[in-house]
This record gives sequence, C-alpha cells and structure tokens, in this order.
Amino acid sequence: MQPLANITPLKPAGAIEVRNVGQVFKTTTQDVVALEDVSLDVKPGRFVVLVGPSGCGKSTLLMMMAGLRQQTSGTITISGAPIPEPDPNRVGVVFQEASLFPWLTAEENVEFPLALRGIAKSDRRTRAQDALKLVGLDGFGKRHPHELSGGMKQRVSIARGLVQDPPVLLMDEPFAALDEQTRMTMGDELLRIWAATGKTVVFVTHSLTEAVYLADEVIVMSPRPGRIVDHLQVPLPRPRTYEMLSGDTFGSLRDRIWRHIRKSA
Ligand SMILES: Nc1ncnc2c1ncn2[C@@H]1O[C@H](COP(=O)(O)OP(=O)(O)OP(=O)(O)O)[C@@H](O)[C@H]1O
Ligand SMILES: [Mg+2]
Repeated sequence: MQPLANITPLKPAGAIEVRNVGQVFKTTTQDVVALEDVSLDVKPGRFVVLVGPSGCGKSTLLMMMAGLRQQTSGTITISGAPIPEPDPNRVGVVFQEASLFPWLTAEENVEFPLALRGIAKSDRRTRAQDALKLVGLDGFGKRHPHELSGGMKQRVSIARGLVQDPPVLLMDEPFAALDEQTRMTMGDELLRIWAATGKTVVFVTHSLTEAVYLADEVIVMSPRPGRIVDHLQVPLPRPRTYEMLSGDTFGSLRDRIWRHIRKSA
C-alpha cells in the first residue's frame, strides 16, 4: 500500500492557480512584455475582480486562464490541471461584445458550443433553455440578436458561457458597452447567478465602483508589463446593496484602488 504522504490531494473544482506567469509578444519590430511574474490563487467560488490601466495585460491573463493563449513562462492550473486549450467544461468565457451570431436565435446561440461537441439536439435545447432561464430570458429563446436590447444580448452571452456548467467563469469587461442603469442591474443579476451556482468568477472592469460592488477580492495590476500591485479583500456583507455605495468602507476601498491607478497614469 502507498504511504499516505505520496498521494497528491486533488484540487477542488473551480480553483485557479497562477504561478510566476509571464507573456512576451513577439512583433516584427520588438518584443512586447505584456505580463511579468504574475502569481495568483483564486479559491473555488470566489468572485475576483481584476483592475488596472489599459494595456496592462488583463485580457491577456484571462485568455491564458481560458486556454486561448499559452503563457511564455510560468504555470496556470484550473481545477488542478493545466489548460493547454479551451475547455468549456472547465472554463466559460464572456467577452465585452456579446459576439452572438446574428443569423441564429438566442437559443441557437447558447446551444452553439454544445452543437460543436456533438450533443444531441433535444438535450442541447433543454440545456440552452435552462441557461436562458437562469439569466432571466425565459421566453426570449426564439428571438434573433437584432430583436434584443444590449443588456439582453449580454445575458445571452452569459447564458452561452454557463451552458456547459463550468466551475469557472471568466468575464472580460462584459458590461462595458451598457448604459449605467443597465450595468447596475446586470451586476445584481450576475451576483444572483453567482450565488445560485457557486461558480468561481474572474471579472475584468475599468469601473472601480463596479469592482468593489461585485468583488470578494480585487486584484490591482500595474501598467505594462503587468504585475500585481495590490490584492484587496472586500469585507462588505452580501447581498450587496445600492446604499453601500455611499458608505465609508466602500469609499476607502475605491480610493485605495484609485491611488494605485492614478500613480501609474
Ligand atoms: N497579439 C498581440 N501581439 C502583440 N502585442 C499584444 C498582443 N495582444 C496584446 N498585446 C499587447 O499586450 C499588452 C496587454 O494587452 P491586453 O489586451 O491584455 O491589455 P488590457 O489590460 O486588457 O487592456 P484594456 O484595458 O485596454 O483592455 C498591450 O500592450 C498590448 O498592446
Ligand atoms: Mg482588455
């Protein structure tokens, strides 16, 4: 029998481990060091927000966590294993633009990743309908993207990210194109879905208010080459409320993030 000490415990689903990660882009004129020595642990079920100046490597980091790009150095594991290519069963991704296929209905857009994996039509439809229900779009499945508002399109895109029920959801400025009111509503909606599903979320935003409102933890990055310069815990209770925005805790956290960003401007 093996001694117990030799058995490596399995990482729980949804854990993200980033170790000494760097990314260098080779262009025709020069090498662009986008990220340098980034290390980060995200525990399962946490809501983590990444902020930092434009071009500091937030999207690049998300792309690597999604298996859409490989790091130049260091390691990334998701639920305990590396991610050499996109794996929608482990990681769902939602981008800034809803990027839906205009010729497909909302339902068909959500089903698309399942169709790619050869899942039977009836099963696909049920899962797409469940995902649309989860994002509050019950009854809108037969609409095409041009018949939906910006917020609704982004909901479809979130449903598509959730349809394979991955333990990790990566979101790159998903609400940036929305007006302020819709954005607040979508934030609450996302927190509701997160609380209901227990997923690990990594969310990128330029809005410091959105960052503090949504997050358990906020990671602040430096200008390129991106490094982590601060890691804040947000001690505000949940559910978050609009009234918290004007409280002292909220204000001092937002100020602390802003001081980092301003220093780097
Ligand atoms: N394919 C690429 N080739 C060369 N350079 C790239 C490539 N992709 C990104 N970069 C560079 O890497 C750096 C980080 O880019 P990235 O898009 O990750 O930044 P970001 O923090 O997401 O910025 P923003 O807040 O504007 O979205 C930038 O300087 C960018 O120009
Ligand atoms: Mg970006």
